[in-house]
Amino acid sequence: MLETFNIQSESGGYEVSIGSHMLVDGLKSEAHKCLKLIDDNVDRLWPLVCQGTGLKVLAVEQNKTLEQVAHLIEALRGLGANRSSYLYAFGGGIVQDLATFVASSYMRGIPWTYCPTTLLGMVDSCIGGKSSLNVGIYKNIAGNFYPPKKILIDIAFCQTLTMQEKIDGLCEAIKICFASPSFALEDCINIFDGDIEALSEKQLFDIVRLSLASKKMFIEEDEFDQGIRLLLNFGHTFGHAIEAATHFSVTHGVAVGVGMLAEIELSILRGIDLGKCARVEKLKSYLYSLLKNLPNLKNQLRTLSVGDALASFRSDKKHSTDKYYLILVNSQGRLERQGLVINPELELQIEIVFSNIKKGLLF
Ligand SMILES: NC(=O)c1ccc[n+]([C@@H]2O[C@H](COP(=O)([O-])OP(=O)(O)OC[C@H]3O[C@@H](n4cnc5c(N)ncnc54)[C@H](O)[C@@H]3O)[C@@H](O)[C@H]2O)c1
Repeated sequence: MLETFNIQSESGGYEVSIGSHMLVDGLKSEAHKCLKLIDDNVDRLWPLVCQGTGLKVLAVEQNKTLEQVAHLIEALRGLGANRSSYLYAFGGGIVQDLATFVASSYMRGIPWTYCPTTLLGMVDSCIGGKSSLNVGIYKNIAGNFYPPKKILIDIAFCQTLTMQEKIDGLCEAIKICFASPSFALEDCINIFDGDIEALSEKQLFDIVRLSLASKKMFIEEDEFDQGIRLLLNFGHTFGHAIEAATHFSVTHGVAVGVGMLAEIELSILRGIDLGKCARVEKLKSYLYSLLKNLPNLKNQLRTLSVGDALASFRSDKKHSTDKYYLILVNSQGRLERQGLVINPELELQIEIVFSNIKKGLLF
């Protein structure tokens, strides 16, 4: 299993390789000589991969900050990094967000390679070149675009992920497939029917390949998030609010999964008739089959403060002064970006959806 393809980008493009065991069996490449930014857990679980000069990062949302970026830049300087240094980053979305920002700003930019170690990193965040940092209570409010030169995806890293970390990735993968104008939704469901215990390396490889092939179209057509790529924010406005209002006890991918159900619910409250929409039914039943594997999720959602969730929702960077911008579903089960004029009726509908999330009524 090895596949390589290119992503076109204003930065000159970059290469993505998907394989198995090419990294975890020992990095024989130039990476040994390079500087590394490593997720603390990955360093512990996969010591062979991460030997050499490395900066370790504790992958928690509270560390995805400008302060952490400053600390890493100082540490790189301490290790003697200069303009011709090359950085390798190993980890999930948190390490990727930090590495993107650090690589882009260290001495005005050094080249780097990203090796995603979570399923979410593999199926989604690794391509597209974005960084997103949290500032204060605001999730993903600061960031930039700075794609790596190469992306090396080793599916074997998934062996040490928990069930919940796999579900994080599967939620983002089905979101991309649902957003795609092709038959990716059906293909994704055909690859994997929801039995996570039995998820094989071949199935993971096929899901990563399908998800990235589907996302490629969005980011090549709209690298800087001005048009069609915005559809990939489906589930994220509610998702970010769920993360913040549960103090990140609900992780990103799972929050996006619940967020998609929330944005479907809001579409219905806004008068969209989804009664006979097969695409939406397929997505919902896929999400139900994933989320039912997380017995603690309903308890976590019960702790959600609707007030905090509404505050986070309102401060989302995608809104304007007088409109909330959301990705909703139309009656054909296709995604549409809508600018909804802020008024008491809309505020009430959003509050109803958050209350239903808290009561565990969405799945
Ligand atoms: N920049 C982007 O385009 C983009 C896109 C989507 C999400 N994100 C961000 O990504 C973050 C979520 O990332 P994530 O879900 O990939 O996970 P993560 O980086 O939050 O890591 C989750 C946990 O998995 C551990 N881990 C990582 N690899 C492991 C492995 N192979 N085995 C065992 N444990 C491992 C980490 O140490 C951590 O405890 C969020 O902050 C989200 O906002 C960024």
